[in-house]
Amino acid sequence: MPQDVYDKIMMLCKRRGFIYPSFDIYGGVAGFYDYGPLGSQVKNNIENLWRRFYVLKDGCIEINTPIITLYEVLKASGHVDEFTDLTVHCGKCKQFYKVEDILEKGVSVEEALKKNLLRCPRCGMVLKNVSPVNLMFSTKIGIGEGRKAFLRPETAQGIFTNFHFLYRFAREKLPIGVVQIGKGYRNEVSPRQGIIRLREFSMAEAEIFFDPTNKTHSDFEKVKDKKLFLFDNEKEMKLSLREAVKNKVVDNQALAYYMYLTQEFLLSAGVDPKKFRFRKHAKDELAHYARECWDAELFSERFGWVECVGIADRSAYDLSSHIKSSGVDMYALRRYDKTKTVKKKKIVPNMSTLGPLFKEKAGRIKTLLENIDVTSEVDEISVNIDGEKIEIPKDCYKIVETEEKVSGEKFIPHVIEPSYGIDRILYMILEHNYMETKKKEEEYRVLRLKPGIAPVKTGVFPLVNDDKLVEIAKKIDNDLRDAGVITYYDDSGSIGRRYARMDEIGTPFCVTVDHDTIVDNTVTIRDRDTTRQVRKKIEDVVGYIKEKIGFLV
Ligand code: GLY
Repeated sequence: MPQDVYDKIMMLCKRRGFIYPSFDIYGGVAGFYDYGPLGSQVKNNIENLWRRFYVLKDGCIEINTPIITLYEVLKASGHVDEFTDLTVHCGKCKQFYKVEDILEKGVSVEEALKKNLLRCPRCGMVLKNVSPVNLMFSTKIGIGEGRKAFLRPETAQGIFTNFHFLYRFAREKLPIGVVQIGKGYRNEVSPRQGIIRLREFSMAEAEIFFDPTNKTHSDFEKVKDKKLFLFDNEKEMKLSLREAVKNKVVDNQALAYYMYLTQEFLLSAGVDPKKFRFRKHAKDELAHYARECWDAELFSERFGWVECVGIADRSAYDLSSHIKSSGVDMYALRRYDKTKTVKKKKIVPNMSTLGPLFKEKAGRIKTLLENIDVTSEVDEISVNIDGEKIEIPKDCYKIVETEEKVSGEKFIPHVIEPSYGIDRILYMILEHNYMETKKKEEEYRVLRLKPGIAPVKTGVFPLVNDDKLVEIAKKIDNDLRDAGVITYYDDSGSIGRRYARMDEIGTPFCVTVDHDTIVDNTVTIRDRDTTRQVRKKIEDVVGYIKEKIGFLV
């Protein structure tokens, strides 16, 4: 079978130590890939470039929370009930399929079932037993019965469950941007798309908390005339951020701003602008928490347009669910200019009856009761815990009239979430920058990676294995490494072969020490993309390379 670009890149990746299937010695398992030495470096570079955009430029704070996540968190977030794929099973082939993968485009599931259109791709048998399957890996914490838990399907929940702490950390001012980079897990039904559909994957997520009455961004004015590449499922458009928001193509400034930041990040990382677009989610494909979502899609020869970033408006969905379910006050405060005195009806829980009656739930119930807004006469009071409505007997509380000084109005912040799939982005960068030519009848491969993304920044070679040349080359190699530039020292094979080895892994520069070096203290520096060479004084090499790389991530 002729190889497509995906096969060629994955072969290069395996041979040169970028990425390759995990557990290969035992036959591998779909959805898991190892990152080798060069792949790990590229991944670090992408993640660190991302930090430049979100932490350095946008001022987000970064946190790190556990991968193993309590059942209660993911029950409240809706993942236990909603994070499912519609799946169908072929009893004959003993195979499960994601319905979406075998459904003809434009045909609904109902229609496919009615007209017997859903067939096993292996044996052709008509399939009927469609059911939703949860995609989370479950586990348990502790031995014995333990506590139910899952591997997190997104890093976001670790941020939401920290909100009250982070809000205080940010001195109670919104917006606050919080980011997390780490692994996410989805037990995909039957992943057949290699590195594009992983069961364990790396995410970089930002949750930006806003006052819902002010979904703006302080840098919007600076970038409002920049263009976004948009696709609304019918037509492609190039609209400025200002036009997109004004015409309600994008709901608000903040969402448009983070789309722009995403576009800038992806292009800086080396994505081909002609293979990039934002696609708006149709109403029926929105995740359970999203009220608007734009995917940054990148084009791949084998897979077509692939979602690599989702930028969603999650509104108050997650925080309000966690407030309801945990009973913890995770509200923000919209401050008044002056403190006001207001008459209020308040519920005062009576712990001497509440405690014995509700035991370990009593604390959560108390907080929930204290936060109920009693604006009118109420006959009965109930609270919701873990999806269960609990009626509170009258002897468990009193309603009292109080006068309170209030400094502001409580509200639940809204969240804009840019969520990046790092592995997909990494693959797309490789594909978009993969060049193939022939040299002396042999295939010649170049990865035109941006210097900041390339795993090795400079190859350092003595032209021949002469003691003097070797000594100088080793000194240059050391000086570059001391300056934070990752190098590859190579003294074996012809110089052409050495350049080829560096071109194939995307090394942007090669320094060669030759016989003239001994005479005039200069070396050649070769540029990967033009193959042109310049001669530079040895003492200028580090400065020249660092300037060309731009910045080290
Ligand atoms: N946090 C976004 C996602 O799970 O896709």
